[in-house]
Amino acid sequence: MTTTIRKESASDNKTSLILILKNGKDWKGHVAFTTDEIIYIKKQFADKNNTVVLNQLNRLLVAHNPEVKSEVYKTHEALRKVGNTLCMELNKHKMKSVSIVDESGVKGGALAMAEGMALGNYQFNELFSNGTAKKNSLTTIGVVAKDSSKEDVEFINITVQATYHARDLINLPLSHLNAVQLSKAFQKMGKEAGFKCTVLNKAKIQSFKMGGLLAVNKGSIDPPTFSVMEWKPRNAKNKKPYVLVGKGVVYDTGGLSLKPTANSMDFMKSDMGGAAVAGCAMYAIAKAKLPVHVIALVPATDNRPDGNAYVPGDVIKMYSGATVEVLNTDAEGRMILADALTWAKRYKPQLVMDFATLTGAAAAAVGQYGIVCMGTASEATKDKLKQSGNEVYERLAEFPFWDEYDELIKSDIADMKNIGGPYGGAITAGKFLQRFTDYDWMHFDIAGSAFLKAPDSYRGKNGTGTMVRMVANFFRHHA
Ligand code: BES
Ligand code: ZN
Ligand code: ZN
Repeated sequence: MTTTIRKESASDNKTSLILILKNGKDWKGHVAFTTDEIIYIKKQFADKNNTVVLNQLNRLLVAHNPEVKSEVYKTHEALRKVGNTLCMELNKHKMKSVSIVDESGVKGGALAMAEGMALGNYQFNELFSNGTAKKNSLTTIGVVAKDSSKEDVEFINITVQATYHARDLINLPLSHLNAVQLSKAFQKMGKEAGFKCTVLNKAKIQSFKMGGLLAVNKGSIDPPTFSVMEWKPRNAKNKKPYVLVGKGVVYDTGGLSLKPTANSMDFMKSDMGGAAVAGCAMYAIAKAKLPVHVIALVPATDNRPDGNAYVPGDVIKMYSGATVEVLNTDAEGRMILADALTWAKRYKPQLVMDFATLTGAAAAAVGQYGIVCMGTASEATKDKLKQSGNEVYERLAEFPFWDEYDELIKSDIADMKNIGGPYGGAITAGKFLQRFTDYDWMHFDIAGSAFLKAPDSYRGKNGTGTMVRMVANFFRHHA
């Protein structure tokens, strides 16, 4: 199931039409509306009803008066949300396509509305026996706006498709997506988009002595995988590659430090949300043929209790050679990410970014409204990342990263332990990861926003695909 956004030169009189207009200013109107309709719409706008839907039976005719905010990115976000509302309206009336015409003068306004509409049109019907019967009617969204180029429109179309892929992966339960299946999904996406994907199997992972990944996998009956994806176009502008690392815990029971089932385990199929970001951002970057050399790494396994599972108290020798005292088997994400961060050193990278549903503490701190980040990248890089975050409305909240937090993960019997104290849990997790880096690095904890239990406009419900658009935007506009 997909929804296509495409640039159109004009609207016609058969397809549903959304006009983004300007209030106050004397709009010339549009041939689509009669004089009476224009009078009616103007009155509605004056009464603060900013979205007027006229049902012409074979199509909907919509006039929207955009809420212009203090900053453009906020106006765009408001338009995305209106796009989602109109998406539901169009589906309710069984409309297959719509054209969005922008006469408001908000730069990129029609495209933002189209983006919200396409993201809101996502469905995960794969596992219903009658999935096709539930299918939305809307499939095509046309953008008629001079201020958005064909490339701009196609880029948003690609990032929406990539977000759909990420949502699909997150929504698939363990019964349908184990570590091997996740790496196969990346290989399939690589074939389609044109990036390389090599998968290290358990024997290879053992030969490299990736102790962190192997320790978490000990309780599993399924083998782990380590996926290495690469996009290296001839016209790449960077000499040193960017590296994306994603936490690929396909299911997190907590291991022997078992989570209580009812509340905290139900949605732990989403613990590979970071892996989805790494793989699906690669998909977008390659599909859009961005001139940038990027590598993505995904260590993957499930985390389960079993006769052979790693236990609290174990000391693990990591791929880096460092030793870790495991005091909570539920702090497994950092164990597998550490090996991938060590692997990243071989590329002498320009910047490494990791994405992970890492801590409940990050989710508790910012909720679903943003992404917790921290790291050692330059202030200039952090600013660009924050700007990208605002542009796609996946906002970053940078946490303090003081040395004192590192002292909280000191161990009596090993180089470090895998948990800190009761406070600053998102940060001590970050400090653990930092010990495996020797390059510019940013850590993104997406525990709060990767998966939603209730719908939130165009982000929908369940897997959101958060950060796929953000990373793609960063590489297109700011890297
Ligand atoms: N996958 C969880 C974090 C998580 C929690 C993601 C809620 C999404 C929603 C992670 O592996 C975990 O269990 N972290 C522990 C760490 C603790 C044991 C130090 C946590 O946050 O409680
Ligand atoms: Zn865990
Ligand atoms: Zn986890």
